[in-house]
Amino acid sequence: MRNCFFLIIILLGVLTVKAQHNIIPAPVSFQNTNGMFMLDNQTSVDLRTNNPALRKMAENFQMFLKNAGTNINFKSVPNPDRSNKAIILDLLKTKDVTIGDEGYLLEVNENTIEILANTNSGIFNGLQTLRQMLPRDFESKDHPMGIGMVMGCKIKDYPRFGWRGLMFDVSRHFFTVDEVKSYIDKMAQYKFNVFHWHLTDDEGWRIEIKSLPKLTEIGAWRVERYGRFGDTRPQPKEGEKATYGGFYTQEQIKDVVKYAAERNITIVPEIDIPGHSMAALAAYPELSTLKKPTSVNPGAKFAEWFANGTFEMLIENTLNPSDEKVYDFVNKVMTEVAALFPGQYIHMGGDESYHGFWERDASVKEFMKKNNIKDTHELQSYFVKRVEKIVSSKGKKLIGWDEILEGGLAPGAAVMSWRGMKGGIEAAKMGVPVVMTPTTYAYIDYTQGDKSVENPIYADLSLEKTFEFEPVPEGVDAKYILGGQANLWTEVVPSLQFAFYMTYPRAFSTIETLWSPKEAKNWNGFVNRTEAHFYRFDAAKTNISRAVYEPIVKVKKDLGKITVELTNNVPNTEIYYSIDNTYPVNYSKKYTSAFEVQDGNLNLRAQTFRNGQSLGRELIIPFTELAKRAK
Ligand code: ACM
Repeated sequence: MRNCFFLIIILLGVLTVKAQHNIIPAPVSFQNTNGMFMLDNQTSVDLRTNNPALRKMAENFQMFLKNAGTNINFKSVPNPDRSNKAIILDLLKTKDVTIGDEGYLLEVNENTIEILANTNSGIFNGLQTLRQMLPRDFESKDHPMGIGMVMGCKIKDYPRFGWRGLMFDVSRHFFTVDEVKSYIDKMAQYKFNVFHWHLTDDEGWRIEIKSLPKLTEIGAWRVERYGRFGDTRPQPKEGEKATYGGFYTQEQIKDVVKYAAERNITIVPEIDIPGHSMAALAAYPELSTLKKPTSVNPGAKFAEWFANGTFEMLIENTLNPSDEKVYDFVNKVMTEVAALFPGQYIHMGGDESYHGFWERDASVKEFMKKNNIKDTHELQSYFVKRVEKIVSSKGKKLIGWDEILEGGLAPGAAVMSWRGMKGGIEAAKMGVPVVMTPTTYAYIDYTQGDKSVENPIYADLSLEKTFEFEPVPEGVDAKYILGGQANLWTEVVPSLQFAFYMTYPRAFSTIETLWSPKEAKNWNGFVNRTEAHFYRFDAAKTNISRAVYEPIVKVKKDLGKITVELTNNVPNTEIYYSIDNTYPVNYSKKYTSAFEVQDGNLNLRAQTFRNGQSLGRELIIPFTELAKRAK
């Protein structure tokens, strides 16, 4: 009886271990089945339909397996021999309405892995799930074994939202075509389907417009500067050569569009107007009110920011909405942009456009009077409506940041809510389609760990906070919420590897929110799976932040005493610390409750551990800094 009891316990343990998967985003339904599939050189990728786009996706997957050291063949086999060991890909003859346009059915047995879907997108997403079920060494280019087990299972999976985006700013830092493709590759592996490409800003115009050659001859280049963006970087000197930058030719853009499409990703190009246009104005100063020659900003101070969130531009970076030449310019740009990007949306920016130069300009004032425009908000609205007409005349839909709501929205436009959720709520209540991307949950340019170990920027956003994102606010009809996205601005992101560090794992939260069922959302399950992906990123030699492990330091001052609280939100971990500057900390004090630190010039040192192994970085924070934080 006693033995029987232990056997049951062991079996239950095995089943529990077997039942776990590490798929991100979590699938809608996952059922463990008996048997394992051994992926080895006898396995082939069998495509059962004659569909060139799907064939490309299948071949790309086969290439991934080959790069991982396998010698797996690709076959196009309309009538396969079932006794073959194969990864079978097929479109459903009778559509399964429950999985929609991007869902899939995946079944792993001893002899076959089968992925079925209504569409190519569904098959692609199923392949990404399969990829995540392979051993992590498959992510390594020098995987030595070339074989791997996949656990038996049955999956039915489909997304909660149709817009699952990441925005990448290539203006503040220029990223090459290969780097952009790497960024797209990674997001496709996690079932993102929108790449919002922020192509223009004050610090560089990155897309070739053949009818306006100066945009890239002049606007794509700036003087090279180091130092803090918007703060300590010196302004360009008179006559100084602009050597930093770059742009994408139209041929390169077409190549990236095709590359993304093969990975189920639609590109939404952003041309940020009327504000954020210093690079365009460096090329064509006549489009501003002052018409003063300027240069592309190298990240030198360009504005004064005030505590109430308002700002004053020190350099004009806004197109002049009262000048017909500006609309000729917009028309030329949008004609070429529309021809390059097959997706339905073009993003016009519209954010943070400073009205001060408009307010001071006599011809703008006269224009407003003549056209019965009562203030500059209405003038911005006039501009947005003109741009919407241009964009829709090219067969495209307009989307913009939530400022495009000011003064009345153009009919047919969609809104991207970034200043919290309120713009999105307001728009959805008017029946306008919305993409939610609020700073509070989706701004992945903000720091994610303790400021003592991060590259500083003006705000922070932990992995935990990104996980709290819910795109459909109470009282809003979900049908107007297209989905959401996370945004990576690159003022302080100078390299692709750092872009990955900033994006992941926070983008895992975003995609779990946008893909997986709301009711199944669970932090502990999510963070467990996230830990497995840390190792997949390591195998791929791709940066990912482990800041979630690190102690969260809360400092309080009470009756003159400074006390420190250390927590984290990863299960089965413990924090050790010292307050006498000594290392190692793991044999120092195990944190159990808040402790006092005395004035002095020593450091708090703290780190997280699991079973004696350190996790994340050690924090070293001077007491003087703790005292500052306590205020
Ligand atoms: C924005 O962050 N200015 C859209």
